[in-house]
Amino acid sequence: MEQNKSASASASFSIAADGVNPARIPSKTLYTGARLPGIGLGTFGSDKYGDTLIADAVEDAIHCGYRHIDCAAVYGNEKEIGEALENVMSQGLPREELWITSKLWNDKHGEKDVIPACRQSLKDLRLDYLDLYLIHWPFPHFHAKGVGVTSRDPHAAPYIHSHYMKTWRQLEKLVEMGLVKHIGTSNMTIPKLELLLKDAAIKPACNEMELHPHFQQPELFRFIVEHGIQPIGYSPLGSPGRPERDKTPQDTVDLEDRVLVEIAAKHACHPAAVCLKWAVQRGQVPIPFSVHRKKYLSNLHAVAGDPLTPGEMQAIAGIDKNCRLIKGQVFLWKTARSWEDLWDVDGFIPGADSV
Ligand SMILES: NC(=O)c1ccc[n+]([C@@H]2O[C@H](COP(=O)([O-])OP(=O)(O)OC[C@H]3O[C@@H](n4cnc5c(N)ncnc54)[C@H](OP(=O)(O)O)[C@@H]3O)[C@@H](O)[C@H]2O)c1
Repeated sequence: MEQNKSASASASFSIAADGVNPARIPSKTLYTGARLPGIGLGTFGSDKYGDTLIADAVEDAIHCGYRHIDCAAVYGNEKEIGEALENVMSQGLPREELWITSKLWNDKHGEKDVIPACRQSLKDLRLDYLDLYLIHWPFPHFHAKGVGVTSRDPHAAPYIHSHYMKTWRQLEKLVEMGLVKHIGTSNMTIPKLELLLKDAAIKPACNEMELHPHFQQPELFRFIVEHGIQPIGYSPLGSPGRPERDKTPQDTVDLEDRVLVEIAAKHACHPAAVCLKWAVQRGQVPIPFSVHRKKYLSNLHAVAGDPLTPGEMQAIAGIDKNCRLIKGQVFLWKTARSWEDLWDVDGFIPGADSV
């Protein structure tokens, strides 16, 4: 990870006294040459935190030195976050110092729906362009907010590449229209990315994926990096606050892992800080969520502070438990066997030939 020398706090926009100068936050250079700030703030409230509380955290986090905000239409709070972004920009922060990501939700994959959906996010976020627009999941899908994991959309279907490419072409159009600087994927697998890379006119710049010490996805991570795509790691702390419906008895708890707790004690920090240092040093861009100042501030300090030793990095590489927390059960189609079918665990895309 490179130190971000080009980004400097704007002269008229002040950083909180206990914040971190953005120039000290590492960044990653994308294949386009653009620089992605090496940590972002997540904005999914897990049905627990109100939209205004999250927007207030975004505004204060920017004052603390965050420059990268991970948004999505489905989080239902882009309007409130838009106000926060407008506030910081009216206080003197230039737009180009911010990196704003948004995501196309699953009910907007239709060819005619993509551009209006992006325009809606732009309107809500009060922006002229997005730095990154992702297809949130590779499955067109409809389900009501907050439904349980056993809920099924009768129209749910497996991944169909020709459908995905129609959606992707619309994302490419958004780049041509200047509404979006970069486009990318989320919740993809190697077989799906292989197809996309074969057919895309504009290659994805980033892939957002679940990444934390107990779920390191080494094969997919390597594939993405080898293809010049930047991994963005969601749930980087093991998503301790995820909705109850997303929890299963088999799930493990990263923040209680003995190896992480011992490394944290050596660095006099919280295991969360160790997860984030590990993430940045490994090469992914973590996007931890919190509305609590103490937490989002310490997360920022973690990635700007003392690094882990090679031995500590190696020890963390050894605690992968292949424990996927965000399994995506609601996306299952009628003939699917289990959530593993969503993730092509046998190396091929199941079900697509049965529709
Ligand atoms: N692309 C996708 O499909 C996708 C899927 C999931 C998530 N995401 C994105 O990734 C972001 C982060 O994921 P996530 O919220 O699932 O997981 P996470 O960031 O791993 O975990 C968030 C939880 O960790 C706690 N936390 C944060 N900082 C902490 C610290 N320093 N010490 C102790 N606890 C700390 C927070 O506690 P408090 O609640 O007490 O503050 C919060 O409940 C989301 O907000 C969203 O933007 C994307």
